[in-house]
Amino acid sequence: MTDPSITNVDVEREHSFDGITEFDNHLPNWWLWSFYLACIFSVFYWGAYHITGFAALPTEVYEADQAALAAQSTDADDETLRALLADPNYIASGKKIFDINCASCHRNDGGGMPGLGPNLTDKFWLHGGEPASIYTTVTKGVIEKGMVAWESQLGASKCRKATVYVMSLRNKNVANGREAQGEPYAGQ
Ligand code: HEC
Repeated sequence: MTDPSITNVDVEREHSFDGITEFDNHLPNWWLWSFYLACIFSVFYWGAYHITGFAALPTEVYEADQAALAAQSTDADDETLRALLADPNYIASGKKIFDINCASCHRNDGGGMPGLGPNLTDKFWLHGGEPASIYTTVTKGVIEKGMVAWESQLGASKCRKATVYVMSLRNKNVANGREAQGEPYAGQ
Protein backbone atom coordinates (compact mmCIF):
# COMPACT_ATOMS: atom_id res chain seq x y z
CA MET A 1 0.00 0.00 0.00
CA THR A 2 1.36 3.44 -0.87
CA ASP A 3 1.45 5.88 1.98
CA PRO A 4 -0.65 8.93 1.06
CA SER A 5 1.79 11.19 2.93
CA ILE A 6 4.48 10.50 0.38
CA THR A 7 3.75 13.17 -2.18
CA ASN A 8 7.21 14.24 -3.24
CA VAL A 9 8.83 12.83 -6.26
CA ASP A 10 11.22 10.07 -5.28
CA VAL A 11 14.78 11.30 -5.21
CA GLU A 12 17.58 8.81 -5.37
CA ARG A 13 20.45 9.38 -2.96
CA GLU A 14 23.95 9.60 -4.35
CA HIS A 15 25.61 6.65 -2.65
CA SER A 16 25.40 3.08 -3.75
CA PHE A 17 26.59 -0.10 -2.02
CA ASP A 18 27.16 -3.16 -4.15
CA GLY A 19 24.83 -1.62 -6.66
CA ILE A 20 22.06 -1.04 -4.09
CA THR A 21 20.74 2.52 -3.99
CA GLU A 22 18.07 4.13 -1.83
CA PHE A 23 15.42 6.84 -2.10
CA ASP A 24 15.44 9.94 0.11
CA ASN A 25 11.76 9.75 1.11
CA HIS A 26 10.15 11.43 4.09
CA LEU A 27 9.19 9.24 7.01
CA PRO A 28 5.44 8.56 6.93
CA ASN A 29 3.40 10.89 9.15
CA TRP A 30 1.80 8.06 11.12
CA TRP A 31 5.31 6.90 12.04
CA LEU A 32 6.44 10.40 13.03
CA TRP A 33 3.34 10.98 15.14
CA SER A 34 3.67 7.72 17.00
CA PHE A 35 7.29 8.74 17.72
CA TYR A 36 6.32 12.25 18.91
CA LEU A 37 3.50 10.90 21.09
CA ALA A 38 5.83 8.31 22.62
CA CYS A 39 8.27 11.12 23.48
CA ILE A 40 5.53 13.17 25.13
CA PHE A 41 4.15 10.12 26.95
CA SER A 42 7.60 9.22 28.26
CA VAL A 43 7.90 12.60 30.04
CA PHE A 44 4.63 11.97 31.93
CA TYR A 45 5.58 8.36 32.62
CA TRP A 46 8.99 9.39 33.98
CA GLY A 47 7.41 12.10 36.13
CA ALA A 48 4.69 9.84 37.52
CA TYR A 49 6.86 6.80 38.30
CA HIS A 50 10.33 8.16 39.01
CA ILE A 51 10.02 11.80 40.10
CA THR A 52 6.73 12.43 41.92
CA GLY A 53 6.05 8.85 43.08
CA PHE A 54 2.42 9.41 41.94
CA ALA A 55 2.39 5.87 40.53
CA ALA A 56 4.05 2.89 42.24
CA LEU A 57 6.85 0.96 40.53
CA PRO A 58 6.39 -2.83 40.29
CA THR A 59 8.98 -3.45 43.04
CA GLU A 60 7.12 -1.06 45.36
CA VAL A 61 3.81 -2.79 44.66
CA TYR A 62 5.49 -6.12 45.35
CA GLU A 63 6.97 -4.93 48.66
CA ALA A 64 3.63 -3.49 49.78
CA ASP A 65 1.91 -6.79 48.93
CA GLN A 66 4.52 -8.76 50.88
CA ALA A 67 4.10 -6.39 53.84
CA ALA A 68 0.30 -6.80 53.73
CA LEU A 69 0.69 -10.60 53.71
CA ALA A 70 3.20 -10.44 56.56
CA ALA A 71 0.86 -8.21 58.59
CA GLN A 72 -1.90 -10.82 58.31
CA SER A 73 0.35 -13.60 59.56
CA THR A 74 1.62 -13.97 63.11
CA ASP A 75 5.09 -15.17 62.06
CA ALA A 76 8.10 -13.46 63.59
CA ASP A 77 10.94 -14.89 61.49
CA ASP A 78 13.61 -12.65 59.89
CA GLU A 79 11.91 -12.60 56.49
CA THR A 80 8.45 -11.67 57.78
CA LEU A 81 9.80 -8.95 60.07
CA ARG A 82 11.87 -7.45 57.25
CA ALA A 83 8.85 -7.45 54.92
CA LEU A 84 6.89 -5.48 57.54
CA LEU A 85 9.50 -2.69 57.36
CA ALA A 86 7.93 -1.69 54.02
CA ASP A 87 4.63 -0.80 55.74
CA PRO A 88 4.71 2.74 57.21
CA ASN A 89 1.39 2.19 59.04
CA TYR A 90 2.74 -0.88 60.77
CA ILE A 91 5.85 1.03 61.85
CA ALA A 92 3.66 3.91 63.07
CA SER A 93 1.64 1.58 65.28
CA GLY A 94 4.93 0.14 66.59
CA LYS A 95 6.07 3.66 67.44
CA LYS A 96 2.95 4.24 69.57
CA ILE A 97 3.68 1.09 71.56
CA PHE A 98 7.32 2.14 71.91
CA ASP A 99 6.47 5.66 73.10
CA ILE A 100 4.22 4.29 75.85
CA ASN A 101 6.21 1.25 77.02
CA CYS A 102 9.82 1.56 75.96
CA ALA A 103 10.81 5.23 75.77
CA SER A 104 11.16 5.47 79.58
CA CYS A 105 14.36 3.39 79.38
CA HIS A 106 15.39 3.62 75.70
CA ARG A 107 14.59 7.37 75.30
CA ASN A 108 11.95 8.82 72.97
CA ASP A 109 14.23 8.68 69.94
CA GLY A 110 15.68 5.28 70.87
CA GLY A 111 19.10 6.78 71.71
CA GLY A 112 19.23 4.96 75.06
CA MET A 113 19.92 6.12 78.62
CA PRO A 114 23.01 5.38 80.71
CA GLY A 115 22.15 2.92 83.46
CA LEU A 116 18.80 2.10 81.81
CA GLY A 117 18.28 0.96 78.20
CA PRO A 118 20.88 0.58 75.46
CA ASN A 119 21.03 2.67 72.29
CA LEU A 120 18.74 1.11 69.67
CA THR A 121 19.79 3.50 66.88
CA ASP A 122 23.36 2.30 66.39
CA LYS A 123 24.51 -0.92 64.72
CA PHE A 124 25.61 -2.62 67.96
CA TRP A 125 23.54 -5.32 69.64
CA LEU A 126 24.01 -7.08 72.98
CA HIS A 127 21.54 -9.81 72.14
CA GLY A 128 21.81 -10.06 68.34
CA GLY A 129 20.73 -7.69 65.57
CA GLU A 130 18.84 -10.24 63.44
CA PRO A 131 15.14 -9.35 63.34
CA ALA A 132 14.13 -12.61 65.04
CA SER A 133 16.76 -12.04 67.80
CA ILE A 134 15.37 -8.56 68.49
CA TYR A 135 11.89 -10.08 68.68
CA THR A 136 13.13 -12.68 71.18
CA THR A 137 14.75 -9.96 73.33
CA VAL A 138 11.51 -7.99 73.32
CA THR A 139 9.23 -10.93 74.09
CA LYS A 140 11.44 -12.81 76.55
CA GLY A 141 13.35 -9.82 77.99
CA VAL A 142 16.69 -9.90 79.82
CA ILE A 143 15.20 -10.01 83.29
CA GLU A 144 18.45 -9.97 85.28
CA LYS A 145 19.59 -6.82 83.42
CA GLY A 146 16.34 -4.92 83.76
CA MET A 147 14.78 -5.52 80.32
CA VAL A 148 11.18 -6.61 80.80
CA ALA A 149 9.76 -9.74 79.12
CA TRP A 150 7.04 -7.93 77.21
CA GLU A 151 5.14 -10.87 75.76
CA SER A 152 3.11 -11.45 78.93
CA GLN A 153 2.25 -7.74 79.23
CA LEU A 154 1.69 -6.66 75.62
CA GLY A 155 0.98 -9.91 73.77
CA ALA A 156 2.82 -11.24 70.72
CA SER A 157 1.20 -8.90 68.18
CA LYS A 158 2.22 -5.68 69.93
CA CYS A 159 5.70 -7.07 70.59
CA ARG A 160 6.02 -7.71 66.85
CA LYS A 161 5.02 -4.13 66.08
CA ALA A 162 7.50 -2.75 68.62
CA THR A 163 10.21 -4.99 67.11
CA VAL A 164 9.63 -3.67 63.60
CA TYR A 165 9.72 -0.11 64.93
CA VAL A 166 13.05 -0.86 66.65
CA MET A 167 14.32 -2.24 63.31
CA SER A 168 13.33 1.03 61.66
CA LEU A 169 15.53 2.94 64.14
CA ARG A 170 18.60 0.92 63.27
CA ASN A 171 21.62 2.96 62.07
CA LYS A 172 19.82 6.28 62.58
CA ASN A 173 22.58 7.11 65.08
CA VAL A 174 20.62 9.87 66.81
CA ALA A 175 22.52 12.73 68.47
CA ASN A 176 23.83 12.19 72.05
CA GLY A 177 22.95 8.51 71.92
CA ARG A 178 24.33 6.13 74.53
CA GLU A 179 27.75 4.49 73.90
CA ALA A 180 27.96 1.39 71.69
CA GLN A 181 27.42 -1.95 73.42
CA GLY A 182 27.75 -5.45 72.02
CA GLU A 183 28.52 -6.72 68.55
CA PRO A 184 28.01 -4.87 65.24
CA TYR A 185 25.30 -6.17 62.89
CA ALA A 186 25.52 -5.09 59.25
CA GLY A 187 22.22 -6.39 57.85
CA GLN A 188 18.73 -5.02 58.00
C1 HEC B 1 12.77 -0.70 82.59
C2 HEC B 1 13.61 -0.31 81.50
C3 HEC B 1 13.31 -0.84 80.11
C4 HEC B 1 12.13 -0.75 79.41
C5 HEC B 1 10.84 -0.09 79.84
C6 HEC B 1 12.38 -1.38 78.12
N1 HEC B 1 13.66 -1.83 78.06
FE1 HEC B 1 14.53 -2.71 76.49
N2 HEC B 1 16.24 -2.95 77.54
C7 HEC B 1 16.45 -2.51 78.83
C8 HEC B 1 17.76 -2.89 79.26
C9 HEC B 1 18.40 -2.60 80.62
C10 HEC B 1 18.34 -3.59 78.21
C11 HEC B 1 19.75 -4.18 78.12
C12 HEC B 1 19.79 -5.58 78.68
C13 HEC B 1 21.22 -6.06 78.82
O1 HEC B 1 22.08 -5.26 79.22
O2 HEC B 1 21.46 -7.25 78.53
C14 HEC B 1 17.36 -3.60 77.14
C15 HEC B 1 17.55 -4.17 75.89
C16 HEC B 1 16.66 -4.08 74.85
C17 HEC B 1 16.92 -4.58 73.53
C18 HEC B 1 18.19 -5.31 73.09
C19 HEC B 1 19.24 -4.32 72.70
C20 HEC B 1 20.53 -5.00 72.29
O3 HEC B 1 21.55 -4.31 72.27
O4 HEC B 1 20.53 -6.20 72.00
C21 HEC B 1 15.84 -4.30 72.77
C22 HEC B 1 15.66 -4.62 71.30
C23 HEC B 1 14.88 -3.65 73.62
N3 HEC B 1 15.43 -3.52 74.88
C24 HEC B 1 13.64 -3.24 73.18
C25 HEC B 1 12.68 -2.74 74.07
C26 HEC B 1 11.33 -2.51 73.71
C27 HEC B 1 10.74 -2.73 72.32
C28 HEC B 1 10.69 -2.06 74.82
C29 HEC B 1 9.24 -1.71 74.97
C30 HEC B 1 8.27 -2.71 74.57
C31 HEC B 1 11.68 -1.98 75.87
N4 HEC B 1 12.87 -2.44 75.40
C32 HEC B 1 11.43 -1.51 77.12
C33 HEC B 1 15.55 -1.82 79.59
C34 HEC B 1 14.25 -1.53 79.25
